[in-house]
Amino acid sequence: MKYADIAQLARATAVEAAALIRRTAESTMDVQHKGRIDLVTTADRAAETYILQQVRSGYPEHGILAEEAGHLGSSDSRAQWIVDPLDGTTNFAHGFPYWSVSIAWAEDGQVQVGAVADASGRCYWAVRGEGAWCDEVPLQVSVTPSLEQSLLVTGFSYTIQEDSDTNMAAFERLTLQTQGVRRTGSAALDLCMVASGALDAYWERYMNPWDLAAGTLIVEEAGGRVSDADGAAYTLQSTSVLASNGLLHQAVAGQLR
Ligand code: IPD
Ligand code: CA
Ligand code: CA
Repeated sequence: MKYADIAQLARATAVEAAALIRRTAESTMDVQHKGRIDLVTTADRAAETYILQQVRSGYPEHGILAEEAGHLGSSDSRAQWIVDPLDGTTNFAHGFPYWSVSIAWAEDGQVQVGAVADASGRCYWAVRGEGAWCDEVPLQVSVTPSLEQSLLVTGFSYTIQEDSDTNMAAFERLTLQTQGVRRTGSAALDLCMVASGALDAYWERYMNPWDLAAGTLIVEEAGGRVSDADGAAYTLQSTSVLASNGLLHQAVAGQLR
């Protein structure tokens, strides 16, 4: 397999960081505010410190973009790790067990490896061109053909009070046309739910690369389709996303305009 060593490091590190987050929850739960409703906890920081140590000891020459620390290491490296140490901090801080650790690796700006570990330590992962798995089980998107038969998921940004598009109109339109639109609170894991076929599509605006880098590759490698919320190609610079089973892509995109 291409990039086998990088995939192994990403998987093992994501799973161990999820274990560290669970342990932190049992001891210290210090919650601070980055914004009005944007939280950060001791667990976010501990998980990020651990992930950075692992990446730096394995690949000291690579660049890193991590949510809490920002850009680290060589800025001219063609290789970059993109890290969300705890995706779903609000859920975690409330004891709602839907959160994840997301680690991606990109070369020349294109994600090649992604790993997302959930709260129970299951790991969703993919290597570009090779496929996507949950631990050792191959992932495949759903074959749901119509909005009426579909179950979707979305999210709302921390800056919702200031956003020019709060996503409420699209949320209402799609709720009325589907079997439901969930709001679960971990973008990386929502993407894995699309990859596994449990959910048929996910969209959200006002995003950062660390929320989406790993999960979008996992969806693509599970046979799904990814664009931004306006239908343009998804890149690490995109600030919105639409990921689907492919069959529903146009139908959902049409409701986001
Ligand atoms: C957030 C989660 C949430 C999404 C927000 C993200 P965080 O990430 O992915 O599902 O709706 O847009 O910022 O802050 O928990 O890492
Ligand atoms: Ca996040
Ligand atoms: Ca986070």
